[in-house]
Amino acid sequence: MQTHEEERVTSSKVQKNSTTLTSKQKQTVEKTVQLVKDTLGEEASGHDYFHIMRVRALAVRLAEEEGADVYVAELAALLHDIADWKFHGGDLSVGPRVASEWLQSLGESKETIDRVAVIIKEVSYKGAGVTTTPESLEGKVVQDADRLDALGAIGIARTFAYGGKFERQMYDPDQPPVMHQTFEEYKKAKGTTLNHFYEKIFLLKDRLNTDSARALAEERHKYVEEFVERFLQEWEGKK
Ligand code: NI
Repeated sequence: MQTHEEERVTSSKVQKNSTTLTSKQKQTVEKTVQLVKDTLGEEASGHDYFHIMRVRALAVRLAEEEGADVYVAELAALLHDIADWKFHGGDLSVGPRVASEWLQSLGESKETIDRVAVIIKEVSYKGAGVTTTPESLEGKVVQDADRLDALGAIGIARTFAYGGKFERQMYDPDQPPVMHQTFEEYKKAKGTTLNHFYEKIFLLKDRLNTDSARALAEERHKYVEEFVERFLQEWEGKK
């Protein structure tokens, strides 16, 4: 239960950076939303338009709570999967380039473009043994928002949607999870969907950058753990 003191701290934290965007910034955000819709709308592996909208909402919330630049965090969240390496043969440079060109075409400042491009490069998940901690607070917030969307009920749904798209088996008791130590290993991995929970999802809560995200992750993590436990019990006819 929250004490009054904590409540005050939380609400003053929320107000710390309740930035109002300029009308030019609002326009840029709106046009970027449309770009994402046009580009990722049909995507069905869990990196679709609505994933981006969820990450955007979480990133804005976390940015406000953490006192980060809301505009930069929002743009980076909107563009973070615009050309994901999973769909470009492992090329990590495509996303930042596409995002930069887009923001340039809207007349965005070089400083903002560079900040957003760095974040997009940093936020991609590259395997259990590979950690990239974004340098900026905005990057930390966007990475946290993206990771939170892999947890909870939505995280479970996305994990199975992704497995289905890449024709992975749901589960195979004879295939133990593999902790990928390099990005190369992770890219080539062909494991079962259930293993993905051990190889990625369960590790996320300890890899968050901000306290605001950790607070949200706790319940989402527990929910996924309970789901996997239940799944295995049903698998063996115990429930
Ligand atoms: Ni994402």
